[in-house]
Amino acid sequence: MEKFLIEGGKRLSGSVTISGAKNAAVAILPAVILCDEGVCKIDNLPQIEDIYCLEKILTDLGAKIEKESKDCISIDCTGINSYIATGDDVKKMRASYYLIGALLGKYGKAEVYFPGGCSIGVRPIDQHIKGFEALGAKVTVEHGIIKVNSEEGLKGANIYLDVVSVGATINIMLAACRAKGVTIIENAAKEPHVVDVANFLNAMGANIKGAGTDVIKITGVNYLKGCDYSVVPDQIEAGTYMIAAAATRGDVTLINVIPKHLEAITAKLIEMGVDIEEGEDTIRVSCNRRTRGVNIKTLPYPGFPTDLQQPLSVLLAVSEGRSIITENIWEARFKHVDELKRMGANIKVEGKIALIEGVDKLTGADVVATDLRAGAAMIVAGLVAEGCTTVSSIRHIDRGYENIENKLSGLGANIKRIKTEEKEFECD
Ligand code: EPU
Repeated sequence: MEKFLIEGGKRLSGSVTISGAKNAAVAILPAVILCDEGVCKIDNLPQIEDIYCLEKILTDLGAKIEKESKDCISIDCTGINSYIATGDDVKKMRASYYLIGALLGKYGKAEVYFPGGCSIGVRPIDQHIKGFEALGAKVTVEHGIIKVNSEEGLKGANIYLDVVSVGATINIMLAACRAKGVTIIENAAKEPHVVDVANFLNAMGANIKGAGTDVIKITGVNYLKGCDYSVVPDQIEAGTYMIAAAATRGDVTLINVIPKHLEAITAKLIEMGVDIEEGEDTIRVSCNRRTRGVNIKTLPYPGFPTDLQQPLSVLLAVSEGRSIITENIWEARFKHVDELKRMGANIKVEGKIALIEGVDKLTGADVVATDLRAGAAMIVAGLVAEGCTTVSSIRHIDRGYENIENKLSGLGANIKRIKTEEKEFECD
C-alpha cells in the first residue's frame, strides 16, 4: 500500500511536459487488434496503470509487444487467435469495453467481462449494445460476460445515440470500420480522443469521416495494416496542472499541449482572474491573486469536462465568494467533497449541484482518493493546504496520471510517495 505525503504552501513554478491522453490510448491499444498485417508503433503513450493493464490483456490474447523507448511500444497483433477476453485484468478497468468493438470487428464475435472502472455513478453500456445490434450482432450477458456474435457478418447501419457517449461512439467506430457498407453515427461524441482514435484507425487504412462533429460516417474496409502513430496530448492531465498552478498562485508552463482542446478550462480560469498565455503547443498559467468563484456546468466536449470538475472544485473552494457546480454527466462524482470538508472546505451537495462558499484557506488532513479525478483533486488540495496532507488509495491516481509526484516535484512541490501498512479504503 502507498500514500502521498504532501506539505502544502509551495508555489508551483517552471515547466511540465504533458503525457499522451489516457482516454485516447485506452481505445487505441484495443483498436490495434483490428490490424491484419504488420506492426503498429504507438508513441506518446502515457506510462500509467491502465495502459500496463491493457498491454497485459493484449499479450494474454496473443499479441507481441516490444518497448521501443520510454513512451513508445510496437504491437504485433497478428498472433491473436482468440475472441475471448475474460481474465481478471479485464474486470479492473472501464476501457476494457473497447475490446468488444475491436474483437467484434475483427472476428465477428467477442466475449468480454463486463467492464470495471471508477465508481462515479451508474455506468450503463446500453448505447454500445444498441450500436452492435444495429450492425447485426446478437448480444447476450451471461455470468457477467458480454457475448456478441454476428453470424452473418456486420452490416453498416444508421445509429442515433440517445445520449452523447464517448465510449459508445468509439466502440461503434471500432466494429463498423470492418462492417460491410456505410455506418452513420448521429449525436456522436466530439471529444479530442474520439478524433484521435478515428485518426489512428484511418492511419491503419480505415475510412472514417466526420470525427469531431456529431455525425460520423464510417465506410467499412476489409483490410487494415500496421502504422506509426503518436497519441494526442492529454487535455485532462493538462487541465489538472493548470488548476494546480492557479491554486498555488504559481507560474507554470505546460509543454506538449493542444491549446484548442483546453478552451473550456482556459475560459473558466480567465474568468476567475488567472493569467493564461497560449503558444503553439504550450500554455503558461500564472496567478498572483486570490481567484474569484464562478459557476460551472459539466457537458460533453466542447463543454466543460466532467473529468476536471473535481480538481477545479478545490480551486473554487478557496476562491472568493460563491460558486455553483452542476455535474451533468456522472451522478456520483461528488464523493471527494466529504474529503475536502475535512480540510475546511465549505461545500453543500444536493443531487447534481454543489454549492461552494469560498474559504480563506484549507488545512492539511488525512484524505482518501475515492476515484481517479477525486485523487487528483486531493493532491491539488494538499498542495494548497496549510501543513501536511496524506492521500491514500492512490492506486486510482496511478491509473491515469503518469509520474505525478515527479512532475509536481519538478515544479517545486513537496510531495512524496510513502509505503503504508494501513488497510486502504475500498471503492464500492
Ligand atoms: N451513458 C449511457 N449509456 C451508455 C453509455 C453512456 O446512458 O451506453 C451515459 C453515462 O451514464 C453518462 C454519459 O452517457 O451519463 C456519458 O458517458 P460516456 O459513455 O461518454 O462515458 P465513458 O465512455 O464511460 C469516458 C471517459 C470518462 C469520462 C467520460 C465523459 C474513458 C475510458 N472514460 O467514459 O473518463 O468521464 O467519457 O467524458 O474514456 C476519467 O478519465 O476519469 C473518466 C471517468
